Amino acid sequence: MPAKILSGREISAEVRGELKEKVEKLKAKGLTPGLAMVRVGEDPASASYVKQKGKTSEEVGVYSETIVFPGDTSEEVLLAKIAELNKDPKFHGILVQLPLPKHINQDRVINAIDPIKDADCFHPVNVGKLLIGKPYLLPCTPHGVQQILIRSGYSPEGKHVVICGRSNLNGKPLFAILIQKKTGANATVTVCHTGTKNLHEITRSADILVAAMGSPKFIKADMVKEGAVVVDVGVNRIQDPTTKSGFRLTGDTDFEALKEKVEAITPVPGGVGPMTVTMLMWNTIMAAEVQTGITAE
Ligand SMILES: NC(=O)c1ccc[n+]([C@@H]2O[C@H](COP(=O)([O-])OP(=O)(O)OC[C@H]3O[C@@H](n4cnc5c(N)ncnc54)[C@H](OP(=O)(O)O)[C@@H]3O)[C@@H](O)[C@H]2O)c1
Repeated sequence: MPAKILSGREISAEVRGELKEKVEKLKAKGLTPGLAMVRVGEDPASASYVKQKGKTSEEVGVYSETIVFPGDTSEEVLLAKIAELNKDPKFHGILVQLPLPKHINQDRVINAIDPIKDADCFHPVNVGKLLIGKPYLLPCTPHGVQQILIRSGYSPEGKHVVICGRSNLNGKPLFAILIQKKTGANATVTVCHTGTKNLHEITRSADILVAAMGSPKFIKADMVKEGAVVVDVGVNRIQDPTTKSGFRLTGDTDFEALKEKVEAITPVPGGVGPMTVTMLMWNTIMAAEVQTGITAE
């Protein structure tokens, strides 16, 4: 039987609906959650991501502002802006769109954001809190992966989850989320990378396989067990002369082949991608509640 397709678009619409209701309740109590987004330079991909985040903010009722700096802005100027945003009570979440131009030290910039306003959950304090099992906010893409699983009826609890990829953005935080002794987590998690031996053997042992490698169609049908649940985090641009633009997006799995074998799989596009921005809204709203003590309930 062909696999169930886990639509991140549908699940994120469901989560956004819940968040919108929450924001309405907060607004009735005088609180409008606010998100400040800082972008440096004219990278078209970054500009489009930030635009999407602004549109989603509007959809759920979060107030957002985008601050755009020219590509030659100094680190000092950027740090001064972050210091100002840290103090601005309008904003409960701050994010700096990455990557930054090479002359700016990315770590210094992330570390300058007040951890309580760290909407992306990249600050070392928040990463550390997550690892010790006392999370404040959760990193957006891994949290989106967890929500897709839970809301589709494939809770990771007690399952063997294999994550291919150990980046600070995806693989490592997803590991930290799924090993928590908590409902919706509590999984046995194996993390694979380029140093992993017998990768095929390990991926075939996964009840839930997450591909976050940045390697188009890397996970083939012989790398998954029958009945597994597959979440594809990869977003890769590959050439396709049949499309108008000459390219298309593909994930890290061989979707067409896998869908004949597995129980359920996320598509690319329309899988994990839409969840990331939605979970950013989740963080902003939660940060607003924590900072003000005003809650929706
Ligand atoms: N859906 C979304 O919202 C979203 C958000 C962020 C990123 N993404 C996408 O997710 C993908 C991964 O992004 P990332 O930032 O996590 O990538 P990354 O920083 O490049 O990390 C890739 C990871 O995959 C591992 N890897 C690569 N090739 C491998 C192979 N052949 N065998 C075993 N391990 C391998 C690497 O291992 P080593 O550590 O040994 O090098 C590394 O840990 C990209 O396609 C990106 O565009 C999607």
